[in-house]
Amino acid sequence: MTKRVYIKTVGCQMNVLDSEMVVADLKRHGYTIVDSPKDADCVFYNTCSVREHAEEKVYSALGKIREAKDRNPDKLIGVMGCMAQKDQEIIFKRAPYVDMVIGPGQLHTIPDLIEKVRSGQGRQMAVSLGRTDGKQAIVARSHETFDPLRDPTMRPTPFQAYLRIQIGCDKFCTYCVVPNTRGPEQGRPPEQILSEARILADQGCREITLLGQTVNSYKYKDGDHTTDMTSLLEQLHEVDGIDRIKFVTNYPKDMTERLLIAVHELPKVSPYLHVPAQSGSDDVLKRMKRGYTIADYMEMFERIERLVPEATVSSDFIVGFCGETEEDFEKSVALIERCRFKNSFIFQYSVRPGTKASERLVDDIPREVKADRNHRLLEVQNRVAQEENDKLIGQTVEILVEGPSKKGQDADPDSATVQMIGRTHCDRIVVFDGNRRQAGQFLKIHVDDASSHTLVGRVQTVDVVTIGMPG
Ligand code: SAH
Ligand code: SF4
Ligand code: F3S
Repeated sequence: MTKRVYIKTVGCQMNVLDSEMVVADLKRHGYTIVDSPKDADCVFYNTCSVREHAEEKVYSALGKIREAKDRNPDKLIGVMGCMAQKDQEIIFKRAPYVDMVIGPGQLHTIPDLIEKVRSGQGRQMAVSLGRTDGKQAIVARSHETFDPLRDPTMRPTPFQAYLRIQIGCDKFCTYCVVPNTRGPEQGRPPEQILSEARILADQGCREITLLGQTVNSYKYKDGDHTTDMTSLLEQLHEVDGIDRIKFVTNYPKDMTERLLIAVHELPKVSPYLHVPAQSGSDDVLKRMKRGYTIADYMEMFERIERLVPEATVSSDFIVGFCGETEEDFEKSVALIERCRFKNSFIFQYSVRPGTKASERLVDDIPREVKADRNHRLLEVQNRVAQEENDKLIGQTVEILVEGPSKKGQDADPDSATVQMIGRTHCDRIVVFDGNRRQAGQFLKIHVDDASSHTLVGRVQTVDVVTIGMPG
């Protein structure tokens, strides 16, 4: 039996990291990774449940793979990730040819589950406990992940890696499925995080992005001693080889003065803060149970402006949440105008089974109104971002070069000059004409032009000169 695996990943960075771990585990068990489901003996979908659309896409992909499974029943199909945890048996009902359903806290069981299916033990399901299925500590343990196992080839680039510092979420925003799919909030032990950061640095990684649903609420208690986000950042700052530290996603209420002072003072920590507001209206925020008002958000925002004046801030918004009036919506517009976010991810509200909003509130905003508000809010955000980016024209920024841009990847492989892409410390995207060897370097770029999403520039000084090479 050959051991070729294909994994399709959708959803957030947590899922990207989870796929990296599963690949590392499967490779250890003798599997190779292939680029197409056609060539694979095992096909996995790493799924997301945050909006209905994300789930429908997976069910539709499962529909398409059915024919291949009919032709070759030995081809194993696995559904992993948040939708696996949320839908469980429903997946077997909707797609009876699926062989494995694995929740995000049970991914370490995959090699074993494959063996069980292969040896004729029938289809397999490994999911974590529900929030009320037992004592908190036992439920939490069932959601733990197996992060130390990594595979560099699966990373966004060889120089960048995600590092999970927090599992789960306890905020229970009324619209959100994540506290159910990822379980209780738990900070991972700082020694583990530090040792993973050192390994990543040894593997050539220069930038780490710390992951958590409310990453700045990170806490780890060991007896009397508590490590918080600030002390964790201070410790990670000492890791040689790591030059940039980012962290997402932040919860507005936990953006303390102490943390912001650290962001400003620790040069490796990026002055980039993703702090989703979700709405500009107090009434909507209350129904979302976000736990803050717009006055609280603005107080936090002004704290950022005061303590980290160099920071860029980005946000998420949900439009068309239950009962959102035109007036409420205008308040989200006003918030973007006031905060001038670097970017905002804007989502149309999607009812999620099992959430408070699905049980207690009415999804009363018509689809067209949601789509229209989405479009209008995006227009405002894009205009603000364009104006902010225009201010950088003529200035010099420093970027970590990630590799060829999309355009650069499509370029003739023999051409010495290709379009390269990188990001500033503030997470702005920059493209420039360069060469592939610049990937992984920090370069100074003179900005010549800007769109709302991208700065366009040229290399100003070359930090590393490779003698004897053209270009
Ligand atoms: N933990 C992060 C976000 C997790 S989900 C935080 O609290 O900010 C990513 C984004 O998806 C959220 O910020 C929210 O804007 C959006 N989202 C979550 N549930 C949603 C739903 N039911 N419908 C539409 N968008 C949703
Ligand atoms: Fe979902 Fe709210 Fe937790 Fe974010 S903080 S993951 S939006 S429940
Ligand atoms: Fe989706 Fe799960 Fe991430 S629901 S957004 S993949 S935590």
